[in-house]
Amino acid sequence: MLTVDNLSAGYYGSNVLRDVSLSCSDEITLVIGANGAGKSTLVKSITGTLRPVSGKIFFGEEEIQDRKAFHIAKLGISTVPERGRVFREMSVIDNLKFGFESSIKGKKGKLEERLEFVKDLFPDLAEKFATPAGKMSGGQQQMLSIARALMTSPKFLIMDEPTTGLYPKLLKEVLLKIKTISTRMPILLTEQNVSETVPLARKVYLLDAGRIIASGTGEEMMKNEIVRRSYLGQNDKEGAKDEYN
Ligand SMILES: Nc1ncnc2c1ncn2[C@@H]1O[C@H](COP(=O)(O)OP(=O)(O)O)[C@@H](O)[C@H]1O
Ligand SMILES: [Mg+2]
Repeated sequence: MLTVDNLSAGYYGSNVLRDVSLSCSDEITLVIGANGAGKSTLVKSITGTLRPVSGKIFFGEEEIQDRKAFHIAKLGISTVPERGRVFREMSVIDNLKFGFESSIKGKKGKLEERLEFVKDLFPDLAEKFATPAGKMSGGQQQMLSIARALMTSPKFLIMDEPTTGLYPKLLKEVLLKIKTISTRMPILLTEQNVSETVPLARKVYLLDAGRIIASGTGEEMMKNEIVRRSYLGQNDKEGAKDEYN
């Protein structure tokens, strides 16, 4: 559904991403990589906020690498940016309405239907509709940021490190939500949190200094030597640990 083909991109003439190719279809496609690997640069290139230097990006049949961000959003690609920004002074419900109004189907669709969908997924938020977003905890703001992206009825969802800074219990909760959402729409997820996210993904790409250096199914990547050594802190002699399977 979303394909990136030999993408190079960077800032002020220096390339960060080099010949990145990947394809996302159903459920969760995951890009893992350390800080500075280029995950957000990839997300910005796909969503039209950074113009790639070369390469192509397809959404379905359509080439989108030269499209403006609003056009890409209108095609149905919704994004939860890094540190998912919410409008802090606005109430939870106003944040959600804002998401709805900026959607393609927007005024044509039914706000109530969309709210029901989001309330179902995030019952905790439903209890805080009147609360200013900025008064909620970081984890709740992160949930709201995801919920707001879903208000646009996306065809495809991109999330840039949505679990960063969450304590373990909340992290698991957010990942469960993401897994549930992925049964409704394909997701491109970027993460540094390898051990928790790789087992959830259908396809995993390892981004290292701007290049894809390994890829495979979630299961394959949990056994991948580079992933185990550099990202899971496992010594090869230990053998693959069962707890991840
Ligand atoms: N706006 C920017 N201007 C210049 N360099 C940037 C900018 N944003 C990111 N970079 C550089 O690009 C590289 C990749 O960054 P980024 O895509 O944010 O990585 P990640 O999201 O994987 O942590 C880093 O070396 C970073 O310093
Ligand atoms: Mg980033």
